[in-house]
Amino acid sequence: MKKRKGIILAGGSATRLYPLTLAISKQMMPVYDKPMIYYPLSVLMEAQMQEILLISTPRDIATFQALLGDGRKWGMKFFYKVQEKPNGLAEAFTIGEEFIGQDSVAMILGDNMFYGEHLREVLKRANERQEEATIFGYLVKNPSAYGVVEIDKDGNALSIEEKPQQPKSNYAVPGLYFYPSGVSQIAKTIKPSARGELEITDINEFYRKQGKLKVEKLGRGMTWFDTGTHDALLETASFVQTIQKRQRLQISCPEEIAYENKWITKEELLQLAMPFMKTEYGRYLKELAEDKLGG
Ligand code: TTP
Repeated sequence: MKKRKGIILAGGSATRLYPLTLAISKQMMPVYDKPMIYYPLSVLMEAQMQEILLISTPRDIATFQALLGDGRKWGMKFFYKVQEKPNGLAEAFTIGEEFIGQDSVAMILGDNMFYGEHLREVLKRANERQEEATIFGYLVKNPSAYGVVEIDKDGNALSIEEKPQQPKSNYAVPGLYFYPSGVSQIAKTIKPSARGELEITDINEFYRKQGKLKVEKLGRGMTWFDTGTHDALLETASFVQTIQKRQRLQISCPEEIAYENKWITKEELLQLAMPFMKTEYGRYLKELAEDKLGG
């Protein structure tokens, strides 16, 4: 499979989380036992992306560098760029132009988390589509609160509407987008919207008009959270806690995915576990390396 690069957009103003985020990035907030950024990062890793560009604010970029480094410890490569102001999601592709080069790319928002049995296969399908764009559709109860996509029987997007009063479907569009090579050129042509942002919807519209916007449905057994409010943050953390306490499985553990992807060896995994041995997280990594998760 041709390689695809990954971008995590982890800037923004996070005003809905004030005062938590007055001095610290939203994407650094704890979601039970891990920093929020681990969750979207894990999704890109599940999709086999080994080179990742992290974009954040001038204030916060250094904390992400301190947390994640150059990626070598997980057999990856991390790059960092600043978004001077929250000018909109589409700006990720102009900021990331040099990083993307001639490759195809996926972008995930730093406050989105996905979990589910079918995630890998859905990501694989999106990944294999090199000439078309892919967005996702998540069945929700209150579509009016989201971007809503209408989908035809072949999985093509027919329309996307932002927070519609009369939604044409119940499929909300989460913050994960796959684009073919050349998306930076399209991003450059976009003008700010009425709310002053470079809208990702305009990029999606470009592909839709060409009949090149596919939608992968995230159905039963898939969980999507956007952790942007106090309640959502707590609910996401509770979800992670519930699963991890009940099942001997970690949600969005980058070391585990790196190991499964064969980007790090057993010995390297054991080394990574060492400093964490006072935590359940560390003991889990050690059991994983020793092939003892099943008992
Ligand atoms: P939002 O949740 O829409 O905005 P926000 O994080 O600034 O929060 P609030 O509404 O509380 O003020 O952003 C979604 C994600 O995208 C989030 O992870 C931040 C990120 N983002 C950027 O990095 N740059 C941007 O220009 C925008 C608009 C968002």
